[in-house]
Amino acid sequence: MQIDEFSKTCESLVVKAEEEIKTVVDESSLNAFKGAYLGKKSALTGFYSEIRQVPAEEKKNYGALLTKLKDRLSEIFDQKEKELKKKALDEKLLKEKIDISLPGYQNQLGSKHPFYSVVDDVTDFFIGLGYQVADGPEVESDLNNFELMNIPKDHPARDMQDSFSISEDTVLRSHTSCVQARVMKKMAGQGPVKIICPGKVYRRDNDATHSHQFGQIEGLVISEDVTFANLLETLTLLLRHLFGEKREVRFRPSFFPFTEPSIEADISCFECNGKGCSLCKHTGWIEILGAGMVHPNVLRLNGYDDKKYQAFAFGMGIDRVAMLKYGIDDIKRFYTDDVSFIEQFRKE
Ligand code: FA5
Repeated sequence: MQIDEFSKTCESLVVKAEEEIKTVVDESSLNAFKGAYLGKKSALTGFYSEIRQVPAEEKKNYGALLTKLKDRLSEIFDQKEKELKKKALDEKLLKEKIDISLPGYQNQLGSKHPFYSVVDDVTDFFIGLGYQVADGPEVESDLNNFELMNIPKDHPARDMQDSFSISEDTVLRSHTSCVQARVMKKMAGQGPVKIICPGKVYRRDNDATHSHQFGQIEGLVISEDVTFANLLETLTLLLRHLFGEKREVRFRPSFFPFTEPSIEADISCFECNGKGCSLCKHTGWIEILGAGMVHPNVLRLNGYDDKKYQAFAFGMGIDRVAMLKYGIDDIKRFYTDDVSFIEQFRKE
């Protein structure tokens, strides 16, 4: 074949391929096209096998035309292949389209319970004063809850805290003071202690400021020289931190079997501002905590040398503090699982 004639053959093959590719619409017709124009039995492959018969002086031109033909046919094929792949992808994406007009799932944001706001606030306050946080179980031995707190079995002082018994020797703890016994035993009577312990306690109580379940935060400081003045200073700082300078605080003498001397701290009633109402039982005051110098018997019973060490302790009602801080009228609101109650404390 003359070189000019071959050139025309190549051109007409390209024109034919350009026409035929327009009919290719899917993978199988694309494969058929590939076989016909680029496959083993294609004209192109035939031209390659004929190269041996081309005269030597024409071989270079023939080879160049052949390469050009192959490149062009491959280009036609590649372009179509790309086009079909894109089409397939577009169709797939269309099928997987997400309808963003549908409303999504709304996660309701919760709010911190006022009870735990007080726990966190008081805990932070005491950590700032160098205290550590101790823990103890809510189901406690009679020994830790009462006996090691200087309240022997059948002693009338047990009537001060009407507890729930699990068995002869086990109770739902009626105060957090039992953690004192645990901490002192752990220390084996050696060295200073400076802890607080927030936790739940249980008593057979029931009115607007008394619940069967409530929270207390216990504090215990043991050292060779801690004094009653240190206790008053600590409690004054705490109550000012919690209630500000405005609300009145009073300390009055009291009795606890595990402290001597003992005091209680009251805050002027938030409902009547000290005038007297049903909430404060017409006294004008709401009791917040009990405290005192740890009784030498308690130190001794728990392995501390009462001649060498002295200690102060306090136990504060968490619910009472939360009621005063947030103006909550009934302690039961903490325990009734009412969402509208807790939503009031959401910080926007
Ligand atoms: C005690 O529980 C002593 N363990 C406190 C203590 C610790 C004194 C260390 C000395 C040294 P009291 O029974 O007063 O004390 O309770 C302490 C506080 O818990 C009260 O001031 C009050 O705020 C709160 N509280 C007592 N009973 C209830 C109740 N039923 N519901 C809600 N809060 C209560």
